[in-house]
Amino acid sequence: MINGMKRAFVTGAGGFIGSHLVSYLLDRSIDVVAFVRYNSRGDIGLLRYVKSKSDTSLEIVFGDLRDVTGLTKAMRGCDTVFHLGAVISVPYSYIHPREVIEVNVMGTLAVLEAALANNIKRFVQVSSSEVYGSAIYTPMDEKHPRHAQSPYAASKTGADELVRSFHLTYGLPVTIIRPFNTFGPGQSRRAVISHIIVSALREGKVKLGNIWTVRDFTFVSDTVKGIFLPSSVDEAVGAEMNLGTGRGHTIEETAKLIFQILGIPPQIEIEKGRMRPDKSEVDRLISDNSLARKVLGWQPEVDFVDGLKMTIDWIKAHPELYINPEIL
Ligand SMILES: NC(=O)c1ccc[n+]([C@@H]2O[C@H](COP(=O)([O-])OP(=O)(O)OC[C@H]3O[C@@H](n4cnc5c(N)ncnc54)[C@H](O)[C@@H]3O)[C@@H](O)[C@H]2O)c1
Repeated sequence: MINGMKRAFVTGAGGFIGSHLVSYLLDRSIDVVAFVRYNSRGDIGLLRYVKSKSDTSLEIVFGDLRDVTGLTKAMRGCDTVFHLGAVISVPYSYIHPREVIEVNVMGTLAVLEAALANNIKRFVQVSSSEVYGSAIYTPMDEKHPRHAQSPYAASKTGADELVRSFHLTYGLPVTIIRPFNTFGPGQSRRAVISHIIVSALREGKVKLGNIWTVRDFTFVSDTVKGIFLPSSVDEAVGAEMNLGTGRGHTIEETAKLIFQILGIPPQIEIEKGRMRPDKSEVDRLISDNSLARKVLGWQPEVDFVDGLKMTIDWIKAHPELYINPEIL
């Protein structure tokens, strides 16, 4: 138990960051209710790789984020909510904007309503740097204007606004945490770093879209710490905070670095079909993390190259996760 937290409710628990957060909580002797999207195979996603060092309990509940009744029941007895569940792909949101808005906005509304009904003590909303759109200035602090350049970005903006409104209207003790790009073990090939590693290992080359965009990559263990910390810091209530390293890398640099670590000569092919529509492309995202450092005492600890090496090792050890063809 940490600062009164006994039982946490995690949405998106079978996903990349959610499964790492579940491990982190269990290792700190916090019971977890893991909310996982229902499927008829009983597939718990990446939770199958979660091994706890403690004997804390993990309860898995299948359901859908839009089902407020199911959420309210599943959340019973929990004191803290970490809301990570979302449809997260920008390209997928071009094709299925309605689904993305319904899950990410209406789903967030349902999680908020369930949290109110259960008298939740802390609610951590996981936002995204995509809400800012391309940087007008760098590093980007929390006052940077919002500019949703995709339906996904619009859905995350809508969700954040709902979360803030529940704080201002009903006093729900919320914190909005805004990770910039996160990478690490377990991430699917949807994300650029995993895609580069898998392609380099399998084909000795990688096909990419825009290689000149700049991203600020944080290793997943650092992101997870930044999501956890607000649950025990009083000054974090009502605040929103960026999580990022403050360093930008172009996709081209990142790909070359990965090939170098693998000891493979870099071969990068640019495919027009992989580019976002011009005005939807987010050229540059670099975080100012001063507020998270000050309020949470958070700082990124894992060096980019070390993080890439850990991700490469994990992908090599888990080929079963990368057998499917590429996904949006
Ligand atoms: N990965 C990143 O670089 C990054 C960066 C910034 C913010 N985020 C945010 O972090 C959170 C987690 O992202 P991730 O990278 O782990 O993604 P992920 O896709 O691995 O995890 C999201 C999870 O949400 C679940 N989900 C989707 N629709 C659902 C529904 N209708 N009902 C129940 N569950 C549903 C999915 O099944 C999945 O397990 C998201 O909110 C995302 O917007 C991620």
